[in-house]
Amino acid sequence: MARKKIALIGAGNIGGTLAHLAALKGLGDIVLFDVVEGVPQGKALDLSQCGPVEGFDTKITGSNDYADIAGADVIIVTAGVARKPGMSRDDLLGINLKVMKAVGEGIRDNAPDAFVICITNPLDAMVWALREFSGLPHNKVVGMAGVLDSARFSHFLADEFGVSVKDVNSFVLGGHGDTMVPVPQYSTVNGIPVPDLVKMGRSTQERIDAIVQRTRSGGGEIVALLKTGSAYYAPATSGIAMAEAYLYDQKRILPTAAYVEGKYGVDGLYVGVPVVIGAGGAEEIVEIELDETAKANLQVSVDAVKELLVACKGIDSTLA
Ligand code: APR
Repeated sequence: MARKKIALIGAGNIGGTLAHLAALKGLGDIVLFDVVEGVPQGKALDLSQCGPVEGFDTKITGSNDYADIAGADVIIVTAGVARKPGMSRDDLLGINLKVMKAVGEGIRDNAPDAFVICITNPLDAMVWALREFSGLPHNKVVGMAGVLDSARFSHFLADEFGVSVKDVNSFVLGGHGDTMVPVPQYSTVNGIPVPDLVKMGRSTQERIDAIVQRTRSGGGEIVALLKTGSAYYAPATSGIAMAEAYLYDQKRILPTAAYVEGKYGVDGLYVGVPVVIGAGGAEEIVEIELDETAKANLQVSVDAVKELLVACKGIDSTLA
């Protein structure tokens, strides 16, 4: 069987980490693409030289030519600019929208059969624009945000309860911004819902509320510490988990920025919801019952995403 081909558009911090992880996991041959000449080639060479030590024979190449992504099975997009301290994800809109146009057209012309995972921020608007510019089916273009946001939530919950992260399963819905919706109701420690753990005296509602808030600003906390860019290890790990779910037809239910039409009262919008990811891409959106607070919070988040789309359409009239 031919090896799978993974194309990574954007060879910056996340792109390089994605390539490293994909090589270590043997997902397939890797093409790192970037507009900057030398960077993808240099990173590809450096990463290839891990092979003799790690024992992988993955072919890793760097490129500035979209023709080299031809035939890619999975494409992960991190092209664009990242946040600096004081910036919100939404501040990136204008610059990254132009980048999504170039990337979307590059994918449309060279690898229209790929499963595309967008990581570029502001995520929910960029994945929508990327889908519009590429013209690929909605089920083949998704955004990575919820896996990362849930990982952050799980990490904080594990710390709070003093348990292994392996036993924590948490859920974050909505847009990938300050209005995201961590859902304690569906977050568990080995099956025990967080609200029950509060009732059992293992934490307090105030502490859980603080964790929810820290999860919402989890990316900003790292930007403020790094000062020169944004998080990349956990975003890359999360993107790879989604790629694996597709490549190995795992049918995992992952919180994914997917195109929602009808469910959750959302009509024609990319927003974070639980999605079955398998060989068919985003195979099914799972509609879970939400309590009134989560429902109201989700609506706020959906409205925030809608505002971003209006802004996108204002910047690029072809999207209107
Ligand atoms: N086509 C391809 N690559 C591009 C383009 C383009 N049109 N424009 C910029 N790039 C490249 C840059 O040259 C850089 O190498 O995208 C890369 C981005 O890398 P970083 O600046 O290191 O950013 P990173 O931390 O990887 O984050 C990328 O993901 O999480 C989001 O908010 C984050 O939007 C940001 C993106």
